Amino acid sequence: MNGAELIPLTARQGGPLQGRARVPGDKSISHRALILAALTVGETTINGLLEGEDVLHTADAMRALGARVERTGDGVWRVHGVGVGGFAQPPGVLDFGNSGTGVRLAIGAVAGSPVTATFNGDDSLRSRPMRRVLDPLEKMGARVVEVADDGRLPLTLQGAIDPIPIVYEPPVASAQLKSAVLLAGLAAPGETTVIEAEATRDHTERLLKHFGAKLTSKPHGDHGRRIVLQGQPELESAPVIVPADPSSAAFPLIAALITPGSELILEAVMTNPLRTGLLTTLREMGASIEAVETRDDGGEEVADLRVRASALKGVDVPPERAPSMIDEYPILAVAASFAEGVTRMRGLKELRVKESDRLAATAEMLRANGVAVEIENDDLIVQGKGRPAGGGEVKTQMDHRIAMSALVMGLACENAMRIDDSAFIATSFPGFVELMRSLGADFS
Ligand code: S3P
Repeated sequence: MNGAELIPLTARQGGPLQGRARVPGDKSISHRALILAALTVGETTINGLLEGEDVLHTADAMRALGARVERTGDGVWRVHGVGVGGFAQPPGVLDFGNSGTGVRLAIGAVAGSPVTATFNGDDSLRSRPMRRVLDPLEKMGARVVEVADDGRLPLTLQGAIDPIPIVYEPPVASAQLKSAVLLAGLAAPGETTVIEAEATRDHTERLLKHFGAKLTSKPHGDHGRRIVLQGQPELESAPVIVPADPSSAAFPLIAALITPGSELILEAVMTNPLRTGLLTTLREMGASIEAVETRDDGGEEVADLRVRASALKGVDVPPERAPSMIDEYPILAVAASFAEGVTRMRGLKELRVKESDRLAATAEMLRANGVAVEIENDDLIVQGKGRPAGGGEVKTQMDHRIAMSALVMGLACENAMRIDDSAFIATSFPGFVELMRSLGADFS
């Protein structure tokens, strides 16, 4: 999407939001389903795959590495895998667009295969750190042939011929990093161990087990996990159902909370406890969110969420909650600016290396619309005053979550709000504008 024309969009206050909606499939699970299905023997059908640009790049990469990947219907994909260690030499550069998850997971999967691949992405992805994944993968026997300054993309990696299992303690809480090591560990003999000080989303572990790998995950310390994978399994194809993405559901959910008179039902939202930090926080703020029907959908818990417009109050969000809501801080900051009182969100260092410097971009978004906000070390502090003035223009900086957060904010501010570019929304939430309009949002 580099160099493309900007697509501005304006959000303004209208009536209440009402109705039912199902947001697209979970992005984390969609990437993993494609990559792991490509490493199985046999054919896997994936239902409800997120057809956003990020995931489509991962599908293309799996194809380039030798898997057969076909779209057979709306959100229905069929993957014929090559087996663990079976990737073919890709014919060209693997382009991951805007997606940190896609590229880091694929780097891990390639590290355990005897092929050499070059990875690249857009301007945003080329500014993000890759050293963190390369360090453990080099210990496992992969070789970095070439890498841009300071451990950035583009980079060329030669996968290990005989991968070595390691015991790894990630220096940052990152599901991408954990997953890269586990994916490389698939091709290594013996046990690959990841010891997390803070538990992060466990979709890789769940899907590995779903495809027949032997893996244990046990509590470690106060908030961590010790994950042990037995290497060189024969992964077997198995159908995957992708539940609705809680990180995408967060946008209509908070739009309803801050728009007076609103009531929505968001269907089949994944409620994996490692993804529900936002719901916990919003409930502490006084939000009316009810899980009306909880059930199991393809190995993940899901619920229909009934949400009603609510008077919110400021809260203190502890740093240990960050991994379970890492992508939700921009939209939580929007909710906090409509609350009464101060909200302090602690321990947000990782936000500086997302699709944008999200800590700075979130603060700028609020400031441009009349909200008093400060960054103190790694904390974001928002002074809630009930209803911000709005009227600002928000620079989205190639960041889909800043774009959607600003549009949601514009629905309930006094004055209309404009974003400079809505194009990147398609990376994670295709159909966002139409879905929000169907619930009553005024975007033009
Ligand atoms: C993701 C992990 C998180 C998150 C990203 C998706 C994943 O990143 O921000 O959007 O699917 O593993 P980190 O692993 O860098 O924390």
